[in-house]
Amino acid sequence: MSVVVLISGRGSNLQAMLDAGIPVSAVISNRVDAAGLALAARRGVATAVIEHGRYATRESFEAALAQEIDRRAPRLIALAGFMRVLTPGFVARYAGRIVNIHPSLLPAFPGLDTHARALAAGAARHGCTVHFVTAEIDHGPIVAQASVPVQPGDTAETLAARVLVEEHQLYPRAIRWILDGLVTVEDGKVRIEGQHA
Ligand code: GRF
Repeated sequence: MSVVVLISGRGSNLQAMLDAGIPVSAVISNRVDAAGLALAARRGVATAVIEHGRYATRESFEAALAQEIDRRAPRLIALAGFMRVLTPGFVARYAGRIVNIHPSLLPAFPGLDTHARALAAGAARHGCTVHFVTAEIDHGPIVAQASVPVQPGDTAETLAARVLVEEHQLYPRAIRWILDGLVTVEDGKVRIEGQHA
């Protein structure tokens, strides 16, 4: 019932999972300089680096990634600031077993620079979304969301910091629901046992 976490950078969501007692069996980064690797090592979690630049194709990179993941036979793969687009083939291989956290209230603002875009759009609220990963980027079934107010004078940085606090609460909680078998997907929509629509 373990989770493999894929990162590319800081690793604050990884830290939140570890702090919450999520059983993380390995952390894999596509960047050797990802700060989250040192964090994982300090916590005694196995780490691996699969540098995408060393592979000629996306498929060969993903084959190496899959090999590393499969060694751990995880129940779930959690993307936490993992900055590589996954091919439909990779997503299909782990159908229903990959989750991501995205820093916006999807379906608003898929893609990058979400905080600046929310400010530019004049959004009154902003937030984060945990969703299953499908072939279409930032569009999979939504497991959980948390929102924050946009405040006068906010910059992308202040807004990002407010959202990040929520991310650290939401992601471990949603992962726990999945590990506990409380989450099912029907017609592209998530149902969580014990919660009403
Ligand atoms: C988070 O804002 C997350 O929503 C996004 O990338 C960022 C990763 O931050 N997908 P961290 O590496 O977990 O600190």
